[in-house]
Amino acid sequence: MLIDPCELSPSYVRSIAPYQPGKPISEVARELGLKEENIIKLASNENPRGIGPRTRAAIDAAIAEVARYPDGNGHELRMALSRRHGVEPGAIVLGNGSNDVLELVAHAFLGPGRAAVFSQHCFAVYPLATQARGARAIVVPAKNFGHDLDAMAAAIDDETYVLWVANPNNPTGTHVRPEALEAFVRRVPERVILVIDEAYNEYLAPELKSETVKWLKRHPNLVVTRTFSKAYGLAGLRVGYALAHPSVADIMNRVRQPFNVNSLALAAATAALDDMEFVARSYAENLQGLRQIEEGAKKLGLEWIPSHGNFITIRVGKANEVFRRLLKRGVIVRPVGGGYQLPEHLRVTVGTGAENERFLAALAGSLKE
Ligand SMILES: Cc1ncc(COP(=O)(O)O)c(C=O)c1O
Repeated sequence: MLIDPCELSPSYVRSIAPYQPGKPISEVARELGLKEENIIKLASNENPRGIGPRTRAAIDAAIAEVARYPDGNGHELRMALSRRHGVEPGAIVLGNGSNDVLELVAHAFLGPGRAAVFSQHCFAVYPLATQARGARAIVVPAKNFGHDLDAMAAAIDDETYVLWVANPNNPTGTHVRPEALEAFVRRVPERVILVIDEAYNEYLAPELKSETVKWLKRHPNLVVTRTFSKAYGLAGLRVGYALAHPSVADIMNRVRQPFNVNSLALAAATAALDDMEFVARSYAENLQGLRQIEEGAKKLGLEWIPSHGNFITIRVGKANEVFRRLLKRGVIVRPVGGGYQLPEHLRVTVGTGAENERFLAALAGSLKE
């Protein structure tokens, strides 16, 4: 072999560090010789409540049609979302998870010679998607672990085409209040696509939710993304969406794979969208779980970053060591050193009451070990 074939890929692709997902239960069981049923996973911000009966019934019914390609336009889900948000169907882009729509933004608006602005400690997909398109990353230092919006606005340069903001942010759980976010949206120049990633929107208290969808009318450069992976409990099916000006949605749809959302995901998401009670209970139980974990962390003398998501990031000191000790006790959480630059913290997803209890007991043991 004269050349390593990977050298044929552009250097900006070769230098991408692979995304580190939460460890699957089966992998931890294999590696540590534990029984799968004795392991709990609190590492990927999934919904511990699973899915509601109506969503399950919709998936069961959709199985009959899996030999056929899905509806490439996702008509039913698109219409349901259009009614829910009061936007025209042409303002919606469906994705294989909201991760997919974030990639579509990068695909449609970034490339070599262009730049994207994002914050230190931001969701890993922003740097990944930016780099995969050969665009330059402008990383703005965080303020109190959260987005420093003034500094982010000031960092926009002539080559900036995209600005990524997660609200709340993962992995810090930090949140920007509606007034501050609206002032920021007004400040970002129209020539920059401003992505507001609201993957954890359903976990916010009502008074903390921004009216981002209403702002779309005034700000054609705004792209709001949402997901069914978190409060709706559909992480495994992969479905999310973006709301944007129809011409932005149109350009994103042109680079979208024709059948990017599978038929089970379409059916499940359409049913889940109507199950307001399921989402309301997910919100309430998450809040209880957050308080439970905060109290436990306080008893252990630990600090945490106040969270508005379905996870909480706790300062444990030597985080990689504590992570490994937790694994031995059958508890999978997420280290956030590396690209996230929080080497002393661990991120834990809010589980059921019993899972949170088990995590806290394992954490107490791991810290003493
Ligand atoms: C801030 C944020 N945005 C987007 C996503 C992507 O989620 P999905 O692709 O499952 O919709 C996540 C997942 O953890 C996230 O934390």
